[in-house]
Amino acid sequence: MTMHSATLQTATAITIRRLWISEQDLFRKHFDQLDPASRAMRFGGAVHDSFLDTYARSAFSHGNMVFGAFVKGTLLGVGEIKLLANSLPLRAEAAFSVVPEWQDKGVGDALFARIIAALQNRGVRSLSLWCRTSNHRMRHLAAKHNSKLDFVAGDETHGEVRLPWPMPSSIIEEVCGEAFCYAQAMQALMEARPRSEH
Ligand SMILES: CC(C)(COP(=O)(O)OP(=O)(O)OC[C@H]1O[C@@H](n2cnc3c(N)ncnc32)[C@H](O)[C@@H]1OP(=O)(O)O)[C@@H](O)C(=O)NCCC(=O)NCCS
Repeated sequence: MTMHSATLQTATAITIRRLWISEQDLFRKHFDQLDPASRAMRFGGAVHDSFLDTYARSAFSHGNMVFGAFVKGTLLGVGEIKLLANSLPLRAEAAFSVVPEWQDKGVGDALFARIIAALQNRGVRSLSLWCRTSNHRMRHLAAKHNSKLDFVAGDETHGEVRLPWPMPSSIIEEVCGEAFCYAQAMQALMEARPRSEH
């Protein structure tokens, strides 16, 4: 976890956890909360709702993973991982989006750190990113996480992050992050139950 994301998570109690296929609707609704400019930055242009419906279904298949950033149970941002088929050493692509009112507050950085840990823990050796050349925020984040911007054509930039083998720190980042969220969910469930059931 970077210092930036650690500070943010302490200050605002932001939690990052994996989203599961049962949360597909929550994931789909996240894209409705993006303004047109953010949607265009995320998908490389304007996209129709029906495209997003299909896209949301595919994001959880074929070993792909989605991570969500939450504050007080509200989903504010997502980081998506797509594993590239038949790649050896293993390779993946990632994409990020944060709701407008929470952009530039460290949410993307925190998601990026978790995604790197998750991929590292699964033996993935490189992470590929595409964004618009004019997307200075995303390019800054990629560079901050050691991405080498290796291809720029027109308004498209490609970055590649080489990932080390799993480390105790990457395992702790992922396992502790998920365990903390699980504990929070259990506590919320207990608090929501009528007192007679306690
Ligand atoms: C790109 C995006 C995911 C980043 O998430 P975020 O939560 O806004 O980003 P963060 O606040 O974690 O980090 C932004 C970083 O960029 C820096 N930054 C902000 N504006 C910048 C600019 N114009 N030029 C360079 N760096 C800039 C910030 O200082 C911060 O760096 P730091 O962590 O070193 O302080 C988010 O802004 C978003 O959803 N944009 C629309 C969708 C999109 O562009 N997706 C990317 C395509 S994959």
